[in-house]
Amino acid sequence: MDANDMGNALEKVLISEQEIKDKLAQMAKKIDEDYRGREILLVGVLKGATMVMADLARLIHTPAEIDWMAVSSYGAATKSSGVVKILKDLDSDLTGRDVLIVEDVIDSGLTLDWLTRNLSSRGAASVEIAALLRKPEAAKVEVEVKYIGFDIPDEFVIGYGLDYAEKYRNLPFVGTLAPQVYQ
Ligand code: PRP
Repeated sequence: MDANDMGNALEKVLISEQEIKDKLAQMAKKIDEDYRGREILLVGVLKGATMVMADLARLIHTPAEIDWMAVSSYGAATKSSGVVKILKDLDSDLTGRDVLIVEDVIDSGLTLDWLTRNLSSRGAASVEIAALLRKPEAAKVEVEVKYIGFDIPDEFVIGYGLDYAEKYRNLPFVGTLAPQVYQ
């Protein structure tokens, strides 16, 4: 899928495919430096993180395993509650592991705040976060992110794993959605 397939639904390209590639290469380099001599357990948070995981994992030279979690917020108050339900748990035992959570976007920060505490409580040696995007204006809780791609405005973004009503995840770039689509 590309911009042509979106017609009027695309407002603008916010971060191009090339910019994403370059940034992930920088992040991977830093990760390799920091984890030298160790092995990483990459934990992706479904579904948004699929593209970041696929590309970042292939750029990392450090030995790495990949595992996935699916989570959702409880109830209609959803994200504001900060209470998270595990829909699919990890297959891996985290005891003594160096865990690197891979995310597409940090919005309020509530998901990752909960997740880092949850994974740390399972006996991991370390739990760090790599996220492609962060919306500082939307933060409800401060999350310590070791590897960040881009800080972006608090806009409705789609593409590269991010959806609107489950669509547009397969765009190769990050863009903003035209307001008429969601209004
Ligand atoms: C998105 C994203 C994070 C979370 C961030 O997932 O992938 O997991 O929201 O939001 P927060 O910082 O406010 O907690 P979403 O719930 O949209 O599910 P998806 O990944 O399946 O699209």
